[in-house]
Formats: sequence, C-alpha cells, structure tokens
Amino acid sequence: MSASVSTASSPLYAIVLAAGQGTRMRSGKAKVLHKILGRTMVDCSLSLLAPLGVQKTALVLGHQAADVEAAVRASGIAVPGLTVAIQAEQRGTADAVRCALPVLPDLATAGGRVLILYGDTPLLTEDCLAELLRKTTGKLGMISTTLSDPHGYGRLVRQGGKAHKIVEHKDCTPEELAICEVNAGIYVVDAAFLVDSLTRVGQSQATHEFYLTTLVELATASGEEVAVVSASPDEVMGVNDRQDLVAAEAIFRTRILRRHMQAGVTIHDPATTFIEPGVVLGRDCELYSGVSLRGKTRIGEGCVIDQGCVLTDVTVESGAHLKPYTVAAQSHIGPRCQVGPFSHLRPDSRLHEEAHVGNFVELKKTELGKRSKANHLAYLGDSTIGSEVNIGCGTITCNYDGFAKHQTIIEDGVFVGSDSQLVAPVRLGQGSIVAAGTTVTRDVPAGALAVTRVPQDNKLEAADKLRARFRARKAKS
Ligand code: UD1
Ligand code: CA
Repeated sequence: MSASVSTASSPLYAIVLAAGQGTRMRSGKAKVLHKILGRTMVDCSLSLLAPLGVQKTALVLGHQAADVEAAVRASGIAVPGLTVAIQAEQRGTADAVRCALPVLPDLATAGGRVLILYGDTPLLTEDCLAELLRKTTGKLGMISTTLSDPHGYGRLVRQGGKAHKIVEHKDCTPEELAICEVNAGIYVVDAAFLVDSLTRVGQSQATHEFYLTTLVELATASGEEVAVVSASPDEVMGVNDRQDLVAAEAIFRTRILRRHMQAGVTIHDPATTFIEPGVVLGRDCELYSGVSLRGKTRIGEGCVIDQGCVLTDVTVESGAHLKPYTVAAQSHIGPRCQVGPFSHLRPDSRLHEEAHVGNFVELKKTELGKRSKANHLAYLGDSTIGSEVNIGCGTITCNYDGFAKHQTIIEDGVFVGSDSQLVAPVRLGQGSIVAAGTTVTRDVPAGALAVTRVPQDNKLEAADKLRARFRARKAKS
C-alpha cells in the first residue's frame, strides 16, 4: 500500500466528477449509486482518497444530487473534508471541475495539487493513484490505457514519445482514430496551474462542451512535460451500462478472492463465491460453493463455511463450522460452534462457544450459552439461554402477543423437552426440566419439573373397534 503523499506545505485535494446522468443505465437511480459487491461506485472512488492523504474533497453532483449525497453520508466511509458541489447543467468535464473550485480552499494561493477522478470507475486502485502522484513531478500527470477498441475515448497523441494532446473521438482525424492509447480521465494537477488553465479552456466545436482534456495541450504549450502512467484497461474501466456494471463486479470479485486465497483461505468454487470488500477472513478457512459473505463479516481461523451460506455483518470465531445453507445477519457465532444445515440467525443472535444450532432453527435477539444445543425445528426469539441447555425439537418461544415482545430466560443446565411452548415473559430456573409437550405460562423454579400434559388414557382394544366402525360407514355410502 502507498504511503501518504501529501504534506502540510504541499496539500493534496481531490475532485470527483459524478454529475452525469448515466442514461444508459436505464435506471431510476443515479448511476454512481449502483453497487458492485455491495459498495456504490461513488464510494469505490471516494474510499481511495483518505489513504493517499487527501485533505479536502469536492464531489461534483448534478442529477439526483441529494440522493447521492445522502447515500455517501450514510455509507459511513471516511472521505477527507467532503463537500458537495453542484453542477446544475452538464457542460463538460472542465466545467464540472470549475464548479468544484468554490468548495475547495483558494487553489491559486493555497498551493499543492489536485487529484481529479470520476465516480464511475470503480476498479481504480490506490496503488495506481499513488504511482500517478509519485511520477508527476511537473504541473500535470494523467493516466492512460491501451484498448484494442478505443471507440468513444479521447486519444492520447504523443510527439517524440511524449504526451502532446488529447483529442476526443468526435474530433479525431483518421490517423488519430487509429491510436489505441486513450485518456482514462484521471489526472493530478498543480493547483495554481489548474485554476489558471480553467480560464483558458474553450468550448468544443463539435459538442459545445468544455473539455478538461485541454489541460494537456495547455501544459505542453507552456513547455511542461506531462507525466503519463499507463494502467491496465480493467483498472480504469468506466461503467456506462448494466453490462459494464456486472463486468466490473466480476473483476472486482476475482481480485478479492485472489487476495484471500493468497492469505491462506481455500475457496473451492471461486466462480460462485461472493465476498464483499469489507470482509475479513482468517487463515485456513474453507469456503464451499455459493457462499456470500457481506458487509462487515469477520471470520476467524480454521472455519468451514459450507455450501450456500449467506452471512451479513456476522462475526464467526475460530474453528466454527457452518453447515450448508446457513443464513445469518448481524450476529455473533462463538468459537467451535456448529450451525446448520438450514439455520437462520436473525439480528442480535449470539452463540457462545461450542453451541450447536441445527436444521430449521430460527434465532432472533437470542443468546445461546456455552455448549447449549437447539438442534432441530425451533423458534427462539428475545431469549437469554444459559450454558449446557438442551432445547428440544419443536420448541417455540411465544415472544409476541400481537402488541409487544416479551423475554424468555432459560438458566444454565435446563432441559426443554420436545414440542414445548414457552409463553413469554417467562423464566426457567437453573437445572429445571420442561416435559415434552408442555405449554409453560408461569416461571419454573430451579430444579423443578414442569408438566402440563393431559393424563394419558389407554382404552384397550379400542383401536380395532374404531376401525371396524369406520369401515362399516364407508361400505354403506
Ligand atoms: C472523458 C474524457 C475522455 C476520456 C474519457 C474516459 C473529456 C472531454 N473527455 O470522456 O478523454 O477518454 O472521459 O472515460 O474529459 N461529468 C460531469 N459533468 C459534466 C461532464 C461529465 O460531472 O459536465 C462527469 C461524468 O459524470 C463522468 C465523468 O465526468 O463521471 C466523465 O464524463 P463522460 O461524459 O463519461 O466523459 P467522456 O465524454 O466519456
Ligand atoms: Ca464515459
């Protein structure tokens, strides 16, 4: 990772351009709010800035600006000194940068440099920007890439091997159209040079837009050498439609999977595994096909996450085994726990070490103590369950009366027999036993046996008599 490249004497500012409409997404939502692996595109760009030592950030918005700003603020990513600037009418990239100036310190006098990037290039990396900052020793540096099909992009025209100017596709001569090295749209510019240059950019004959690319000509005309960093096409890929979006997501996904595999995680089926960028995985974890790990999920060492598990903001401690099709959110799974197959942990569930939760068991706001087990068909909601408790098959906490939620407390060492209903609020005292089929409506004292069954009556030979009666009735009809 790069070191910070800004200093107090040479501050670094950032301008992120995202005012465009993104018509080709055919969406009711602003383009930059579309997500790849759970992160909006604009957040992908903005998240690069803090590690580079950016001091202030101007985000230029136009279409659905309020929605984009609200989403960025709500996402919780750290953006250094973020201020939104509005470009009401999209009059080109130079005009967009001009709109950003009022929300930044006076660049003509503040000195330093300005990093300019887009909000729709989600695969850009911090390393690439750090290299641009390092290699740019003069007034202007830019990123280029080489495409087999450069259609639509601005071409980088070189003279004597050096960057000379950028010509937009629409303005290219036939010779320029044949150039495959294109402008990625990412620059670092000396602050004073930027302010001065923006006053000199004229309107394009072809589109009447103000082109930021004019900076290259202005720099070379004044005898400046423009630094060019060439990036892989993937890295600077812009997203314009849904196909681009999924293509970008696939590349991003592969990058993340590769990083985890290099760090000692076995991913048996990378083609079907989705790991969001904020997820942490310990060494020697094994992930099987169809696993999705989302949000702030953190998994300790040596965990097995079997086929089809979907975990969102879940902490899993070392040595836990999640069997197939476990779905969990905002929950904590302790060391060496066993969960699944087909378990559902809803928010605020907490399993202590070596607890077991089995098939068709749902937990919500429930704590299950050390070595306690709920192995089959149960609903445990708003409950605090101690250690070494056995929750029998078909146990239900009746936590909701149609108006309010109520607590169930089960102390250490309790045995709850199968098919029991625990009508909350209720407490089962330490070491008590609830007989199978019991409906508990009052607290059970420690050590007591609670039974609410109707006494059993065996009517001898009555089964055969009953069958004979039914048979006769059927024959008559
Ligand atoms: C721009 C470059 C082109 C480069 C390409 C790379 C110019 C003139 N051309 O072309 O050389 O190859 O990017 O993708 O700069 N935006 C605004 N306000 C505007 C116009 C654009 O905020 O008035 C934002 C857009 O939201 C987008 C970015 O700037 O994030 C680039 O705009 P876009 O219209 O895609 O630029 P291109 O014409 O593709
Ligand atoms: Ca574009």
